[in-house]
Amino acid sequence: MLAVQNVTRVFSGRAAVDDISFAVDGPAFVGIIGRSGAGKSTFLRMMNRLTDATAGRICVEGRDILALRGRDRRAWQGQCAMIFQQFNLVPRMDVVSNVLHGLLNRRPALATLFNLWPRADILRALEILDRLGIAEQAPKRAEALSGGQQQRVAIARALMQDPRIILADEPIASLDPMNAQIVMDTLKRINVEDGRMVIANLHTLDTARRYCDRVIGMRDGRIVFDGTPAQLSTGVARDIYGADHSFNEAATSTAIPADAIADAAYAARLMA
Ligand SMILES: Nc1ncnc2c1ncn2[C@@H]1O[C@H](COP(=O)(O)OP(=O)(O)OP(=O)(O)O)[C@@H](O)[C@H]1O
Ligand SMILES: [Mg+2]
Repeated sequence: MLAVQNVTRVFSGRAAVDDISFAVDGPAFVGIIGRSGAGKSTFLRMMNRLTDATAGRICVEGRDILALRGRDRRAWQGQCAMIFQQFNLVPRMDVVSNVLHGLLNRRPALATLFNLWPRADILRALEILDRLGIAEQAPKRAEALSGGQQQRVAIARALMQDPRIILADEPIASLDPMNAQIVMDTLKRINVEDGRMVIANLHTLDTARRYCDRVIGMRDGRIVFDGTPAQLSTGVARDIYGADHSFNEAATSTAIPADAIADAAYAARLMA
């Protein structure tokens, strides 16, 4: 289904992603781990064509999505929905409108401007919210919801696109443990029940172990581990994180603020 072939991204002479290759056969739940700056976000951005690759191919069902231009590129972006650490909802807009904005790529700008949505789309948005257990929040402003609820709204918005792949960049890094579990359970359900591939950058090992079928460990732009959670021993994890013997299993990476700003800008563009 997915074949990443020798993908590299260079920023001012330095490779953020350095010749990575891996293939995924079916709609797996793939976790990418690694310390801050390892190249995890850069990879996800190349997947959905927010960032161009310097070299390599990413084939999805045989088609190199890095080669898509113009309308084809936008169509691809509709097929791989993105979920961010900071949710990136429109805070003062109601929940159901936020979900409907998942359809932005597909509707006329004027209709969007006046917030006119076909009844069938509204019903589908409500159905998705109901499925994610937040139907009663539909009329509220997004900003009135808890972080976990907001992230579920962001997932609902992603589902509205009916994507084949869901890309999640540290989806639970801003959530408390209970909400983190609800959000991860939600992503897992979508993966299993709908057969949508999920690729998630994760900042804790235990989450990767618990939810992923496949874990990819990155270090300095390279893949240093590719295997199952069972193969992800403490020794391997220590190698991925490049930590010394004082390495602690709770090791995390944190998002670079510049990332969050760029993601917000992208989300704002979707909403514009
Ligand atoms: N737009 C950019 N311009 C220049 N350098 C960049 C850009 N985006 C990322 N980088 C650099 O590429 C490297 C990888 O960054 P990336 O954001 O992919 O790491 P990450 O694994 O997602 O880290 P984190 O866990 O902190 O989110 C870093 O050294 C970063 O500074
Ligand atoms: Mg990142």
